[in-house]
Amino acid sequence: MGETFTEGHYVLGIEGLALLRAGAGRRFDRAGQRVREIEEIVRALEEHPYSERRDLPEYGVGAGYAEWAESYDDPGNDTIALEQPIVRALLDELPPGPVLDAACGTGRHAAYLAGAGREVTGVDASEAMLDRARARLPEADLRVGELSTLPVADETFAGAVCALALSHLPEIGPAIAELARVLRPGGRLVLSNPHPFVTGVLGWRAVFARGGERAMIPENAHRHSEYVTAFASAGLRVRRLVEPGLTRAQARARAKAGHGDAFEDALAGVPAVIVWKVERG
Ligand SMILES: C[S@@+](CC[C@H](N)C(=O)[O-])C[C@H]1O[C@@H](n2cnc3c(N)ncnc32)[C@H](O)[C@@H]1O
Repeated sequence: MGETFTEGHYVLGIEGLALLRAGAGRRFDRAGQRVREIEEIVRALEEHPYSERRDLPEYGVGAGYAEWAESYDDPGNDTIALEQPIVRALLDELPPGPVLDAACGTGRHAAYLAGAGREVTGVDASEAMLDRARARLPEADLRVGELSTLPVADETFAGAVCALALSHLPEIGPAIAELARVLRPGGRLVLSNPHPFVTGVLGWRAVFARGGERAMIPENAHRHSEYVTAFASAGLRVRRLVEPGLTRAQARARAKAGHGDAFEDALAGVPAVIVWKVERG
């Protein structure tokens, strides 16, 4: 197979995780099926679909979102399906006043906030993603900018949201300090990200289709300790932490090559998203 990482390798990993969870959950009756499937996959590693490459071409954030912008809002993103209702419920509780959507992308949360009558400013590094946001929100104040040097004045906002973006940064401290800087005292920040378990252990990445091929944008797993340290240094107090798990249907929908039972046993309930609500003192 040479030095590649294939769908077969990935499915073997999922089978292994399902086997571990069968043991941990004392569902010993499931172990036999896992071992039989592992043997079958090992024998067929060189054949389609197991031989398909999973080491996708890697794009930087700028080039990646330039390519992904057009299809970013297409349905079927299970991370967004888990994240959105939780973030929206927390946005509903923001104190009155203007709100920042930092790394607003195509304006998913900015549009929700504007629809709720909030004055919204959006910032994003990607012109292509901002173009989509501008088409959706022609009246909003949408600016090109970096999370670590936000183009907004100190203590401007009563609330801020930064969704599914900090995972692209190797260090989250500078961006969290910036978000704190632009919040008014008592202002709240809602922060979502892919969960460090799926990024760090399962190796999940932001994957998008490009002319029929798939490609990925690198992401980093940030531990809870990194968030808590960055919040404390920025004068932000944790008010809530939510870690929704994949549903059985979402786990099964990720199945490859007919291994639905293994995907369900491995992934159901695994925390796929992390959502923080923090408050500036
Ligand atoms: C997965 S999208 C999320 C977009 C939107 N927040 C949402 O949840 O739908 C990540 C966004 O973060 C932006 N982004 C990544 N790194 C950034 C940085 N250092 N500064 C500003 N924006 C950044 C990307 O351009 C992209 O629009």
